[in-house]
Amino acid sequence: MSGDEQAFGVYIHWPFCLSKCPYCDFNSHVRREPIDEPRFLRAFHSEIGAIGERTRGRTVSTIFFGGGTPSLMQPATIAGVLNSIARQWRVAPDVEITLEANPTSVEATRFRGYRAAGVNRVSLGVQALDDRALAELGRMHTAREALDAVGVARAVFDRYSFDLIYARPGQTPQEWADELKRALAHAGEHLSLYQLTIEPETPFYALHAAGKLKTPVEDIARALYDTTQEVCAGHGLPAYEISNHARPGGECRHNLVYWRGHDYAGIGPGAHGRLNVDGSRHATATEKRPESWLMRVEAQGHGIISDEVLTREEMSDEYLLMGLRLAEGIDIARYAELSGRPLDPARVAALHEHGLIDTTASGRLRVTLPGFPVLDAVVADLAA
Ligand SMILES: C[S@@+](CC[C@H](N)C(=O)[O-])C[C@H]1O[C@@H](n2cnc3c(N)ncnc32)[C@H](O)[C@@H]1O
Ligand code: SF4
Repeated sequence: MSGDEQAFGVYIHWPFCLSKCPYCDFNSHVRREPIDEPRFLRAFHSEIGAIGERTRGRTVSTIFFGGGTPSLMQPATIAGVLNSIARQWRVAPDVEITLEANPTSVEATRFRGYRAAGVNRVSLGVQALDDRALAELGRMHTAREALDAVGVARAVFDRYSFDLIYARPGQTPQEWADELKRALAHAGEHLSLYQLTIEPETPFYALHAAGKLKTPVEDIARALYDTTQEVCAGHGLPAYEISNHARPGGECRHNLVYWRGHDYAGIGPGAHGRLNVDGSRHATATEKRPESWLMRVEAQGHGIISDEVLTREEMSDEYLLMGLRLAEGIDIARYAELSGRPLDPARVAALHEHGLIDTTASGRLRVTLPGFPVLDAVVADLAA
């Protein structure tokens, strides 16, 4: 385990987009009327205060503005949120502050303002480097425009990353390898590469169910995954998590907070948090609908609608589920401490024999490269 045992992250959710992409089931909404940012800022300030009360003495190591599309926020709103955070907690001098951005030319014009506000890392949703694929994904930018935005990000921020979606309809491993190599020529220290998932209640779900959108069959999907690993590792960006690749040291520290089972405050509509309060681990969730969240915060100071103390079993299952996504795996002793019993040696031995996991001399258990495509089954087996 690295030295950030005490990492504490703050996640801020901005729930608006200019249009809804047909594959996306994130808590994001399109509104015709302009968004009242000063009103949202006051509400963020209240909720940060309410959660700050319960987490006194913590030092914030990472902050993440996610969405939705946080790059639609005015830089002054971002600066206001960062001020509220600094008034509530101590902020580490090397704090990582990431903002998710859509790669359009309009949004790129705000990048300098975000940097002046304190943002030091951006993550851009490029999604594809092929204009036809971008149109099919319902994106509002071309590949050229996205790469131009990546260029602005590189010039303005110390650190940047971008996302691509692969295993798109009709995509072959050769096409994906070529596209990925082009992407790597523009990459910095980090890339997120997500396999397209068909989420319930999205337009893609209906099309898929009607047979009008065909995702790659299992062996092509596997070949696409293998291509991803080979090409990225060959360019010095191996996977440190099932969908995330970085040069050593370039990992997203905020996302590591989730995967390593550390604490984070979830602020804004539909945000989730995990907080250790008085020796118990709390799972918090806020109201999802932006307008209802605002009204709740204005009435009671926060928008939390669910706050549950996790049982030992829930904590240890979550640690397995999140930790095994990481190449570094989990700490076997920590699992036993959380769950009150060690992992079943017979199950560990069987998975080991099948080459799906390995264990290290320092007491970690990791999923192997052949194990990652069947990660869900490995986790289910160990948690049973
Ligand atoms: C919160 S979203 C988006 C950030 C930003 N609004 C954008 O679209 O550029 C984070 C990332 O999740 C990925 N994503 C969203 N839905 C997905 C899906 N159904 N399958 C695979 N990746 C998905 C996209 O790569 C996206 O950039
Ligand atoms: S992918 Fe990004 S831009 Fe598209 S709807 Fe989801 S959050 Fe909004």
